[in-house]
Amino acid sequence: MDTKLMTETARAMVAQGKGLLAADESAGTCKKRFDSVKVECTEENRRAYRELLFTAEGAEDYISGVILYDETIRQSSADGTPFPQLLTEAGMIPGIKVDLGAKALPFSAEEKVTEGLDGLRERLAEYVSLGARFTKWRAVITIGDGIPTDYCLHVNAHALARYAALSQEAGLVPIVEPEVLMDADNSIERCLDITTETLHLVFDELHHQRVLLEGMLLKPNMVISGKGAAEQADAARVAELTLRCFHETVPAAVPGIVFLSGGQSDQQASENLNAINAQGPQPWKLSYSYGRALQAPAIKAWAGDPANVELAQQLLVHRARLNSAAAGGRYAIEMEELARAT
Ligand code: 13P
Repeated sequence: MDTKLMTETARAMVAQGKGLLAADESAGTCKKRFDSVKVECTEENRRAYRELLFTAEGAEDYISGVILYDETIRQSSADGTPFPQLLTEAGMIPGIKVDLGAKALPFSAEEKVTEGLDGLRERLAEYVSLGARFTKWRAVITIGDGIPTDYCLHVNAHALARYAALSQEAGLVPIVEPEVLMDADNSIERCLDITTETLHLVFDELHHQRVLLEGMLLKPNMVISGKGAAEQADAARVAELTLRCFHETVPAAVPGIVFLSGGQSDQQASENLNAINAQGPQPWKLSYSYGRALQAPAIKAWAGDPANVELAQQLLVHRARLNSAAAGGRYAIEMEELARAT
Protein backbone atom coordinates (compact mmCIF):
# COMPACT_ATOMS: atom_id res chain seq x y z
CA MET A 1 0.00 0.00 0.00
CA ASP A 2 1.55 3.29 -1.12
CA THR A 3 0.51 5.43 1.82
CA LYS A 4 2.39 8.53 0.66
CA LEU A 5 0.94 8.49 -2.85
CA MET A 6 -2.63 8.02 -1.60
CA THR A 7 -2.27 10.77 0.98
CA GLU A 8 -0.89 13.16 -1.64
CA THR A 9 -3.60 12.27 -4.16
CA ALA A 10 -6.38 12.74 -1.59
CA ARG A 11 -4.98 16.16 -0.66
CA ALA A 12 -4.62 17.19 -4.30
CA MET A 13 -8.28 16.28 -4.89
CA VAL A 14 -9.31 18.86 -2.28
CA ALA A 15 -6.66 21.50 -3.04
CA GLN A 16 -7.91 24.95 -2.05
CA GLY A 17 -10.73 26.11 -4.32
CA LYS A 18 -10.99 22.81 -6.16
CA GLY A 19 -13.57 20.06 -6.22
CA LEU A 20 -14.64 17.09 -8.30
CA LEU A 21 -16.85 16.69 -11.34
CA ALA A 22 -19.01 13.56 -11.05
CA ALA A 23 -19.47 12.33 -14.63
CA ASP A 24 -19.96 8.69 -13.71
CA GLU A 25 -23.62 8.31 -14.62
CA SER A 26 -24.40 4.74 -15.67
CA ALA A 27 -25.93 4.32 -19.13
CA GLY A 28 -29.37 4.13 -17.41
CA THR A 29 -28.93 7.38 -15.46
CA CYS A 30 -27.39 9.03 -18.51
CA LYS A 31 -30.53 8.12 -20.47
CA LYS A 32 -32.68 9.98 -17.91
CA ARG A 33 -30.50 13.09 -18.27
CA PHE A 34 -30.46 12.84 -22.09
CA ASP A 35 -34.23 12.25 -22.23
CA SER A 36 -34.74 15.58 -20.44
CA VAL A 37 -33.04 17.38 -23.36
CA LYS A 38 -34.35 15.00 -26.05
CA VAL A 39 -31.00 13.48 -26.97
CA GLU A 40 -30.80 9.82 -27.94
CA CYS A 41 -28.71 7.88 -25.42
CA THR A 42 -26.28 6.16 -27.81
CA GLU A 43 -22.70 5.27 -26.94
CA GLU A 44 -21.46 7.94 -29.39
CA ASN A 45 -23.68 10.66 -27.87
CA ARG A 46 -22.48 9.73 -24.37
CA ARG A 47 -18.89 9.91 -25.64
CA ALA A 48 -19.43 13.26 -27.37
CA TYR A 49 -21.06 14.73 -24.24
CA ARG A 50 -18.24 13.54 -21.99
CA GLU A 51 -15.68 14.99 -24.43
CA LEU A 52 -17.50 18.33 -24.15
CA LEU A 53 -17.21 18.19 -20.35
CA PHE A 54 -13.57 17.09 -20.27
CA THR A 55 -12.25 19.62 -22.79
CA ALA A 56 -13.91 22.75 -21.35
CA GLU A 57 -11.24 25.43 -21.31
CA GLY A 58 -10.28 26.58 -17.83
CA ALA A 59 -12.16 23.79 -15.99
CA GLU A 60 -8.89 22.60 -14.48
CA ASP A 61 -8.64 25.82 -12.46
CA TYR A 62 -11.62 24.67 -10.39
CA ILE A 63 -11.90 20.92 -10.97
CA SER A 64 -9.20 18.69 -9.47
CA GLY A 65 -10.55 15.39 -10.71
CA VAL A 66 -13.32 13.69 -12.65
CA ILE A 67 -15.25 10.55 -11.70
CA LEU A 68 -15.71 8.32 -14.75
CA TYR A 69 -17.95 5.36 -15.50
CA ASP A 70 -16.67 1.99 -16.73
CA GLU A 71 -17.68 2.78 -20.32
CA THR A 72 -16.20 6.30 -20.16
CA ILE A 73 -12.75 5.31 -18.88
CA ARG A 74 -12.39 3.17 -22.01
CA GLN A 75 -13.49 5.91 -24.44
CA SER A 76 -11.41 8.52 -26.28
CA SER A 77 -11.82 12.03 -27.65
CA ALA A 78 -12.57 12.50 -31.35
CA ASP A 79 -8.82 12.77 -32.03
CA GLY A 80 -8.22 9.38 -30.40
CA THR A 81 -6.82 10.48 -27.01
CA PRO A 82 -8.07 8.14 -24.25
CA PHE A 83 -10.11 10.13 -21.72
CA PRO A 84 -7.88 9.31 -18.72
CA GLN A 85 -4.85 10.63 -20.64
CA LEU A 86 -6.75 13.70 -21.85
CA LEU A 87 -7.77 14.57 -18.28
CA THR A 88 -4.30 13.98 -16.87
CA GLU A 89 -2.72 16.19 -19.54
CA ALA A 90 -5.26 18.92 -18.70
CA GLY A 91 -4.27 18.72 -15.02
CA MET A 92 -7.31 16.78 -13.73
CA ILE A 93 -7.09 13.45 -11.93
CA PRO A 94 -9.12 10.59 -13.43
CA GLY A 95 -11.14 8.37 -11.08
CA ILE A 96 -13.72 5.63 -11.49
CA LYS A 97 -17.05 4.58 -9.99
CA VAL A 98 -16.60 0.92 -9.10
CA ASP A 99 -19.88 -0.09 -7.45
CA LEU A 100 -22.42 -1.97 -9.54
CA GLY A 101 -25.43 -0.11 -8.21
CA ALA A 102 -27.88 -0.15 -5.30
CA LYS A 103 -30.00 -3.33 -5.38
CA ALA A 104 -33.03 -4.48 -3.37
CA LEU A 105 -32.08 -5.39 0.21
CA PRO A 106 -33.40 -8.85 1.11
CA PHE A 107 -36.14 -8.84 3.80
CA SER A 108 -36.51 -5.04 3.78
CA ALA A 109 -38.47 -4.25 0.66
CA GLU A 110 -37.99 -0.48 0.51
CA GLU A 111 -34.26 -0.44 1.23
CA LYS A 112 -31.15 -0.94 -0.86
CA VAL A 113 -27.70 -2.42 -0.55
CA THR A 114 -24.91 -1.59 -2.97
CA GLU A 115 -23.33 -4.50 -4.83
CA GLY A 116 -20.00 -4.93 -6.61
CA LEU A 117 -17.53 -6.52 -4.18
CA ASP A 118 -17.16 -9.83 -6.05
CA GLY A 119 -14.14 -9.64 -8.35
CA LEU A 120 -13.45 -6.06 -7.26
CA ARG A 121 -9.73 -6.67 -6.60
CA GLU A 122 -9.24 -7.74 -10.24
CA ARG A 123 -11.36 -4.88 -11.61
CA LEU A 124 -9.34 -2.37 -9.56
CA ALA A 125 -6.09 -3.71 -11.04
CA GLU A 126 -7.49 -3.10 -14.52
CA TYR A 127 -8.63 0.42 -13.63
CA VAL A 128 -5.12 1.20 -12.35
CA SER A 129 -3.75 0.08 -15.74
CA LEU A 130 -6.28 2.37 -17.46
CA GLY A 131 -5.02 5.38 -15.48
CA ALA A 132 -7.47 5.71 -12.56
CA ARG A 133 -6.08 7.18 -9.33
CA PHE A 134 -9.19 7.18 -7.19
CA THR A 135 -12.47 5.27 -6.89
CA LYS A 136 -16.05 5.88 -5.79
CA TRP A 137 -18.72 3.66 -4.21
CA ARG A 138 -22.21 4.98 -3.38
CA ALA A 139 -24.48 3.54 -0.71
CA VAL A 140 -28.10 4.70 -0.66
CA ILE A 141 -30.03 5.28 2.57
CA THR A 142 -33.75 5.98 2.28
CA ILE A 143 -35.74 7.85 4.93
CA GLY A 144 -39.32 6.68 5.44
CA ASP A 145 -41.76 5.02 7.82
CA GLY A 146 -39.60 2.81 10.06
CA ILE A 147 -36.59 3.14 7.77
CA PRO A 148 -33.66 3.22 7.56
CA THR A 149 -33.26 0.03 9.59
CA ASP A 150 -30.07 -0.69 11.56
CA TYR A 151 -29.72 -3.71 9.28
CA CYS A 152 -29.56 -1.50 6.16
CA LEU A 153 -27.09 0.93 7.73
CA HIS A 154 -24.81 -1.91 8.87
CA VAL A 155 -24.63 -3.85 5.60
CA ASN A 156 -24.00 -0.68 3.60
CA ALA A 157 -21.32 0.55 6.02
CA HIS A 158 -19.64 -2.86 5.88
CA ALA A 159 -19.62 -2.90 2.07
CA LEU A 160 -18.29 0.68 1.92
CA ALA A 161 -15.38 -0.28 4.17
CA ARG A 162 -14.69 -3.50 2.21
CA TYR A 163 -14.55 -1.41 -0.97
CA ALA A 164 -12.36 1.27 0.64
CA ALA A 165 -9.84 -1.27 1.92
CA LEU A 166 -9.60 -3.00 -1.47
CA SER A 167 -9.12 0.37 -3.21
CA GLN A 168 -6.28 1.34 -0.88
CA GLU A 169 -4.65 -2.06 -1.29
CA ALA A 170 -4.51 -1.18 -5.02
CA GLY A 171 -3.09 2.30 -4.26
CA LEU A 172 -6.35 4.07 -5.16
CA VAL A 173 -7.96 6.79 -3.03
CA PRO A 174 -11.50 5.67 -2.12
CA ILE A 175 -14.32 8.19 -2.10
CA VAL A 176 -16.70 6.77 0.49
CA GLU A 177 -20.23 7.89 -0.38
CA PRO A 178 -23.08 7.09 1.99
CA GLU A 179 -25.97 9.10 0.57
CA VAL A 180 -28.98 9.77 2.78
CA LEU A 181 -31.55 10.65 0.12
CA MET A 182 -33.35 14.02 0.27
CA ASP A 183 -36.43 12.78 -1.61
CA ALA A 184 -38.83 12.30 1.34
CA ASP A 185 -40.83 14.83 3.36
CA ASN A 186 -38.75 14.58 6.55
CA SER A 187 -37.52 17.51 8.63
CA ILE A 188 -33.89 18.62 8.64
CA GLU A 189 -33.64 17.34 12.24
CA ARG A 190 -34.49 13.81 11.10
CA CYS A 191 -31.88 14.10 8.34
CA LEU A 192 -29.40 15.12 11.04
CA ASP A 193 -30.21 12.04 13.16
CA ILE A 194 -30.00 9.59 10.26
CA THR A 195 -26.85 11.12 8.74
CA THR A 196 -25.13 11.14 12.14
CA GLU A 197 -25.97 7.47 12.77
CA THR A 198 -24.91 6.52 9.23
CA LEU A 199 -21.53 8.24 9.52
CA HIS A 200 -20.87 6.76 12.98
CA LEU A 201 -21.34 3.27 11.56
CA VAL A 202 -19.32 4.01 8.42
CA PHE A 203 -16.29 5.29 10.37
CA ASP A 204 -16.56 2.37 12.81
CA GLU A 205 -16.34 -0.07 9.88
CA LEU A 206 -13.55 1.90 8.19
CA HIS A 207 -11.56 1.66 11.43
CA HIS A 208 -12.20 -2.08 11.86
CA GLN A 209 -11.19 -2.76 8.28
CA ARG A 210 -7.93 -0.77 8.68
CA VAL A 211 -8.69 1.93 6.13
CA LEU A 212 -6.17 4.78 6.14
CA LEU A 213 -8.25 7.86 6.88
CA GLU A 214 -5.56 10.20 5.50
CA GLY A 215 -5.85 8.47 2.14
CA MET A 216 -9.62 8.68 1.59
CA LEU A 217 -12.34 11.27 1.04
CA LEU A 218 -15.90 11.28 2.38
CA LYS A 219 -18.74 12.11 -0.03
CA PRO A 220 -21.85 12.74 2.06
CA ASN A 221 -25.18 14.47 1.65
CA MET A 222 -25.62 17.81 3.33
CA VAL A 223 -27.91 17.80 6.35
CA ILE A 224 -30.96 19.27 4.68
CA SER A 225 -34.79 19.22 4.71
CA GLY A 226 -36.49 16.51 2.67
CA LYS A 227 -37.74 17.77 -0.70
CA GLY A 228 -41.37 17.30 0.29
CA ALA A 229 -41.10 18.91 3.74
CA ALA A 230 -43.47 21.82 4.30
CA GLU A 231 -40.73 23.76 6.08
CA GLN A 232 -37.45 24.14 4.21
CA ALA A 233 -34.42 25.00 6.33
CA ASP A 234 -32.36 27.91 4.99
CA ALA A 235 -28.65 27.79 4.11
CA ALA A 236 -27.56 29.02 7.56
CA ARG A 237 -29.43 26.15 9.26
CA VAL A 238 -28.11 23.63 6.71
CA ALA A 239 -24.58 24.82 7.49
CA GLU A 240 -25.11 24.69 11.25
CA LEU A 241 -26.51 21.15 11.34
CA THR A 242 -24.18 19.76 8.65
CA LEU A 243 -21.14 20.94 10.60
CA ARG A 244 -22.58 19.71 13.90
CA CYS A 245 -23.02 16.27 12.35
CA PHE A 246 -19.47 16.12 10.98
CA HIS A 247 -17.87 17.34 14.21
CA GLU A 248 -19.51 14.39 15.96
CA THR A 249 -18.67 11.75 13.38
CA VAL A 250 -15.81 12.56 10.97
CA PRO A 251 -12.25 12.16 12.31
CA ALA A 252 -9.91 15.10 11.68
CA ALA A 253 -7.51 12.74 9.87
CA VAL A 254 -9.86 12.68 6.86
CA PRO A 255 -8.42 15.31 4.49
CA GLY A 256 -11.62 16.25 2.73
CA ILE A 257 -15.38 16.07 2.58
CA VAL A 258 -16.78 16.48 -0.94
CA PHE A 259 -20.55 16.85 -1.10
CA LEU A 260 -22.93 15.27 -3.56
CA SER A 261 -25.70 17.58 -4.80
CA GLY A 262 -28.41 14.93 -4.53
CA GLY A 263 -31.20 16.81 -6.28
CA GLN A 264 -30.54 20.34 -4.97
CA SER A 265 -30.74 22.98 -7.68
CA ASP A 266 -27.38 24.18 -8.95
CA GLN A 267 -27.78 27.53 -7.19
CA GLN A 268 -28.94 25.95 -3.90
CA ALA A 269 -25.94 23.59 -3.94
CA SER A 270 -23.59 26.59 -4.30
CA GLU A 271 -25.37 28.65 -1.62
CA ASN A 272 -25.31 25.80 0.89
CA LEU A 273 -21.66 24.94 0.23
CA ASN A 274 -20.82 28.61 0.69
CA ALA A 275 -22.74 28.87 3.98
CA ILE A 276 -20.89 25.80 5.27
CA ASN A 277 -17.49 27.27 4.37
CA ALA A 278 -18.38 30.72 5.66
CA GLN A 279 -18.31 29.28 9.20
CA GLY A 280 -14.52 29.45 9.22
CA PRO A 281 -11.74 26.87 9.14
CA GLN A 282 -12.61 23.24 9.89
CA PRO A 283 -10.43 20.14 10.39
CA TRP A 284 -11.22 18.96 6.84
CA LYS A 285 -11.52 20.71 3.46
CA LEU A 286 -15.21 21.03 2.53
CA SER A 287 -15.72 21.02 -1.21
CA TYR A 288 -17.89 19.56 -3.96
CA SER A 289 -18.22 16.42 -6.01
CA TYR A 290 -21.32 17.45 -7.89
CA GLY A 291 -22.96 15.70 -10.80
CA ARG A 292 -26.26 17.38 -11.54
CA ALA A 293 -25.40 20.71 -9.85
CA LEU A 294 -22.35 21.15 -12.12
CA GLN A 295 -23.77 19.71 -15.33
CA ALA A 296 -27.39 20.92 -15.39
CA PRO A 297 -26.94 24.21 -17.32
CA ALA A 298 -24.37 22.65 -19.67
CA ILE A 299 -26.47 19.67 -20.73
CA LYS A 300 -29.49 21.92 -21.27
CA ALA A 301 -27.49 24.33 -23.46
CA TRP A 302 -25.89 21.47 -25.42
CA ALA A 303 -29.05 19.46 -26.17
CA GLY A 304 -27.06 17.27 -28.56
CA ASP A 305 -26.13 20.03 -31.04
CA PRO A 306 -22.40 20.37 -31.83
CA ALA A 307 -22.98 24.09 -32.49
CA ASN A 308 -23.77 24.52 -28.77
CA VAL A 309 -20.62 22.87 -27.41
CA GLU A 310 -18.75 26.09 -26.68
CA LEU A 311 -21.66 27.69 -24.78
CA ALA A 312 -22.23 24.48 -22.80
CA GLN A 313 -18.54 24.42 -21.86
CA GLN A 314 -18.67 28.05 -20.70
CA LEU A 315 -21.67 27.26 -18.51
CA LEU A 316 -19.92 24.23 -16.98
CA VAL A 317 -16.82 26.29 -16.17
CA HIS A 318 -19.00 29.08 -14.78
CA ARG A 319 -20.74 26.64 -12.37
CA ALA A 320 -17.36 25.21 -11.39
CA ARG A 321 -16.04 28.75 -10.73
CA LEU A 322 -19.05 29.51 -8.51
CA ASN A 323 -18.60 26.30 -6.53
CA SER A 324 -14.90 27.00 -6.22
CA ALA A 325 -15.79 30.37 -4.69
CA ALA A 326 -18.30 28.61 -2.41
CA ALA A 327 -15.58 26.20 -1.28
CA GLY A 328 -13.74 29.29 -0.03
CA GLY A 329 -16.85 30.95 1.47
CA ARG A 330 -16.63 33.67 -1.23
CA TYR A 331 -19.73 32.92 -3.33
CA ALA A 332 -22.33 35.66 -3.80
CA ILE A 333 -25.62 35.45 -5.62
CA GLU A 334 -24.59 38.28 -8.00
CA MET A 335 -21.97 35.92 -9.42
CA GLU A 336 -24.80 33.94 -11.05
CA GLU A 337 -25.09 36.69 -13.75
CA LEU A 338 -23.49 34.84 -16.69
CA ALA A 339 -25.79 31.88 -16.20
CA ARG A 340 -28.83 34.16 -16.28
CA ALA A 341 -27.60 36.20 -19.23
CA THR A 342 -27.29 33.14 -21.46
P1 13P B 1 -25.22 14.42 -7.77
O1 13P B 1 -24.36 15.60 -7.42
O2 13P B 1 -26.04 14.64 -9.02
O3 13P B 1 -26.01 13.91 -6.60
O4 13P B 1 -24.23 13.26 -8.21
C1 13P B 1 -23.12 13.02 -7.46
C2 13P B 1 -22.80 11.57 -7.48
O5 13P B 1 -21.73 11.20 -7.87
C3 13P B 1 -23.82 10.64 -6.96
O6 13P B 1 -23.25 9.38 -6.78
